[in-house]
Amino acid sequence: MLTKSDIVAPHGGTLVDCTVPAEERRERLREAAELPRVSLGSRTISDLQMISTGVFSPLEGFMHKEDYESIVEDMRLTNGLAWSLPVTLAASEDTARTLSEGFEVALVDSDGEPVATMLLRERYRYDKERESQMVYRTTDADHPGVAALYGQGEVLLGGEVTLLQPPDRGRFPGYYYEPRELRAAFAEKGWKRVVGFQTRNPVHRAHEHIQKTALETVDGLLLNPLVGETKSDDIPADVRMKSYETILDRYYPKNRVMLAVFPAAMRYAGPREAIFHAVCRKNYGCTHFIVGRDHAGVGDYYGTYDAQAIFEEFEPGELGITPLMFEHAFFCTDCQNMASGKTCPHDLSSHVFLSGTKVREMLGKGEYPPPEFSRPEVIEVLMESMRES
Ligand code: ADX
Repeated sequence: MLTKSDIVAPHGGTLVDCTVPAEERRERLREAAELPRVSLGSRTISDLQMISTGVFSPLEGFMHKEDYESIVEDMRLTNGLAWSLPVTLAASEDTARTLSEGFEVALVDSDGEPVATMLLRERYRYDKERESQMVYRTTDADHPGVAALYGQGEVLLGGEVTLLQPPDRGRFPGYYYEPRELRAAFAEKGWKRVVGFQTRNPVHRAHEHIQKTALETVDGLLLNPLVGETKSDDIPADVRMKSYETILDRYYPKNRVMLAVFPAAMRYAGPREAIFHAVCRKNYGCTHFIVGRDHAGVGDYYGTYDAQAIFEEFEPGELGITPLMFEHAFFCTDCQNMASGKTCPHDLSSHVFLSGTKVREMLGKGEYPPPEFSRPEVIEVLMESMRES
């Protein structure tokens, strides 16, 4: 069996743990009930959980101003460590006014229950348009990530957090692992080289193709569907998970593949989110990370391979995880195989490619997309979810 030291180091060297021991919980919650409150929405609750359990290592809280500006400008924290997305807690002017820097605040959920405390280091104003342009490469309010940014409060609250409740195992508790748990699982399986796969969609043939091609070169594959908040027209997380459950036993080798949820919210920040996704997977213990076509993209905001090109903006070793880049993959009826522009000499008429919109349209009419696009078992899951909705 491998030891913990054989598994890749977390980003920044130490796996962050901002949780309190179970025996202190009751007392700390009682104290938190007396503190000024800041309420968190589902995105910030998810960020809080990810910070506290070390998925966002080395972050120990919501960003203070210097780190925020440094990452927006330069994709590095003030200590020089690579970090590509803001992890911030926004509040209204009215809420911010009731709080004092240097003191603890209670972070409460939508029922008003304290979940965590934060040592409020700093309240600061920020430029939403600038963040939008730098992070999302657009200021268009139709972009779902930009819309979320424009809709949040005008003041950011920075400081270290302490999670007082047990980490939320969410809607898929059987597939929930904290980074230390996944790292232990990899060590136990003897996997030294593990490739992570991010997805917000039901699995289709191109996914399976790039996952298995990547697996050929490493010891293990972490299928890591995102189950946090997504835009309303994305396929829901339970359907996404079910699509994997349905084909896993039959088509994936048990001793080389793990399915685990990634409880983050989707930002749709394309290139910058690809870096963020990779670093989070490093914290889970992955050494490699798959980046295919238009990773974390939406609409036409990003070029097909922008999320691959951005990795060149980092020195070798800065990220500490190796991206495995894949060309747009499809089934070719002449090759009689999965292929890409790199490996297939035939023209478009031989390529089976369906856009997400086209698939939804077909399902809506009760038509089955071809098996070259998606395994029939997965199509059945999608059909069933259409009937139920
Ligand atoms: S994402 O928002 O999570 O990136 P999606 O679930 O569609 O969306 O993609 C998961 C991963 O598979 C991403 O790395 C994406 O680039 C890659 N991918 C999706 N479809 C293809 C394809 N046809 N060819 C190559 N890579 C793909």
